[in-house]
Amino acid sequence: MFMADEKKQQHFPEQDYVVIRINSLHPSEPVPFDIFIEIGDHKVHYLRSGDSLTAEKLRKFEDKAPDSFYIKTENRELYRNYIQDRLRSEQLNPSEKAVILRESSLAIVQDLFESPDIGQALSNSKEVITNFINFMDDEPSAMAELLGLSKHDFYTFNHSLDVSIYSLGLGSVLGYTGPELKELGEGALFHDIGKRHVNIDIITKDGPLTDLEWSQMKKHPEYGLLILNQFDDTFISNNIRACCFEHHESFLGNGYPQSLAGDEIHPMARIVALTDTFDALTTKRSYNEPMLPHDALNFIKEKLRARYDRDVLEAMYSILFKLKAAS
Ligand SMILES: [Fe+2]
Ligand SMILES: [Fe+2]
Repeated sequence: MFMADEKKQQHFPEQDYVVIRINSLHPSEPVPFDIFIEIGDHKVHYLRSGDSLTAEKLRKFEDKAPDSFYIKTENRELYRNYIQDRLRSEQLNPSEKAVILRESSLAIVQDLFESPDIGQALSNSKEVITNFINFMDDEPSAMAELLGLSKHDFYTFNHSLDVSIYSLGLGSVLGYTGPELKELGEGALFHDIGKRHVNIDIITKDGPLTDLEWSQMKKHPEYGLLILNQFDDTFISNNIRACCFEHHESFLGNGYPQSLAGDEIHPMARIVALTDTFDALTTKRSYNEPMLPHDALNFIKEKLRARYDRDVLEAMYSILFKLKAAS
């Protein structure tokens, strides 16, 4: 059973390199650490500490995916400080900061689904939420900027990041602040963590799922809870667990896995339930065209409204209104 496997996996030798996304670096500014790319089985220098990322340099390896660049693990703190400095910089505008924040977060959130060391991945991801909240506190246009960068693709880590950004926005409108807002953001970011234990072919399937595949997919809230239950309440609170375990419940009582109804559903999970559906409807999959944000919300309101908390649904409108005003 995977519980036993997970427990065994709690001590890991440190890897020599960690992935960074190249778009998290600001071009034409010297970087304070070496950057590597992988060629064959080897890591070779792409950029040396003190050199700048130039257009020419970017062109040279433009066939490389943005997430196939590496730094030495020992430089992780330097990289983290570099990102924090950029986010605080007076020289960069909110759009540039949003790109740096989103791109630097993606590699971390990807680890939630791919790293064998789930404890470390959860801990690193919590920082992402703190960064988002700080950015939203500092920049009135932060939400709009961040969501404008959404790729609307179906990778679970992209989806998780978008759901957490929407949930932070929705949570603030609904009055969440401080530690509670942070828990909501973390719960939203971890809501699909159980998909680590669903076959990747089912998750990335280019078409509707068969009944058997659906039954596998629908186990992810339980798998997620089992993963989160390995950690104590000070690290993973009950609010975070509820976002994961209850995000597919429906106000009508026809959701899963517990068939909870109405007020039985945790208030934070009600927020994640809506932002999760909203993001799914606005995301492109090969077999359906994505809906525009307003169309998606109207669709939810017309066809699915009974499944959601009415106050949460109303608040979602004000978010979209804000986004529209900002764009
Ligand atoms: Fe889910
Ligand atoms: Fe989801």
